[in-house]
Amino acid sequence: KKKLILDLDTGVDDAMAIAYAVAAPDADLVGIVNSYGNVVVEQAAKNSLQILDLLGASDVPVFEGESHSQTSDHFDVMPVSAHIHGKNGIGEVQLPESSRSVEKESGVDFMIDAAHKYGKDLTIIPTGPLTNLAAALRKDPAISDLIGHVTLMGGALTVPGNVSDAAEANINQDAEAANEVFTNKVPVTMVGLDVTLRTLLTKKETQQWRDLGTMAGEKFADIVDYYIGIYDEMYPELGGCSLHDPLAVGVACDPTFVKTLDLDMIVHHGKENYGRTTGDTAKLDDPNPSDKAAIQVDDERYLKTFMQYLTKLFAD
Ligand code: BDR
Ligand code: CA
Repeated sequence: KKKLILDLDTGVDDAMAIAYAVAAPDADLVGIVNSYGNVVVEQAAKNSLQILDLLGASDVPVFEGESHSQTSDHFDVMPVSAHIHGKNGIGEVQLPESSRSVEKESGVDFMIDAAHKYGKDLTIIPTGPLTNLAAALRKDPAISDLIGHVTLMGGALTVPGNVSDAAEANINQDAEAANEVFTNKVPVTMVGLDVTLRTLLTKKETQQWRDLGTMAGEKFADIVDYYIGIYDEMYPELGGCSLHDPLAVGVACDPTFVKTLDLDMIVHHGKENYGRTTGDTAKLDDPNPSDKAAIQVDDERYLKTFMQYLTKLFAD
């Protein structure tokens, strides 16, 4: 079984990513690290604990990572996405307080220890800014050769960004860290807007969760319906909400959900193009590029799997 670490800024789609990782039969979720973005890091960790409790997965340890970029002065104050995920990050839905707290070890050190412990079996799945992973690679460069794979949600190669024409939200939080991760030799698969904007969930599906009559089914339906409501206002042409973060977990478990382009990528971090993810023109002839960008998705098969896993999990 693959060992997974999720590195989340726990908002609505991050919560669905947790559910997918808990439910996936071919994966073992060994820990959740938190960052900032949709909400501040303390709230992200709180949400992760509460979501795990709701899913009956209270044995998964939860760590706090960095609260802001360590290398960028692009923002004076890191922006949060309360307008998309609600003030608490989980669609204003109230969940019971968790009786657990975050682990004492930092999320960055947990990633480093896990790389040494699990080696190639380990897949790290960042679905927020890349601050924590960049910090881990900087602190212990040896882990580049140890980690099996990094499958991240972020970036946009063939489509425009969602916070600016150049940038997708996760990369935009810390383009410097993202550039460190992409230019590192650690193998990366980028699951960006190219594929996540084509993988959609509607209220038809959340109704199936509601109909289960379980606490997990109802709460998840409430959380995700809030997000679908926002998507309906912001992107009426889509007709649903994007499964950004859970698609990254799906691809980590089963890479055949997407078609990828092999290349070496960079992230622009000058004022002009802040956060733009492109190929590295200096390395177009590299015979062994370290990155893959997902450019096509079998969204039907993915959605079927997603619904199978989550509905079963919420029913228990
Ligand atoms: C990404 O930004 C965050 O708001 C979402 O959780 C997702 O990870 C989409 O651009
Ligand atoms: Ca996220």
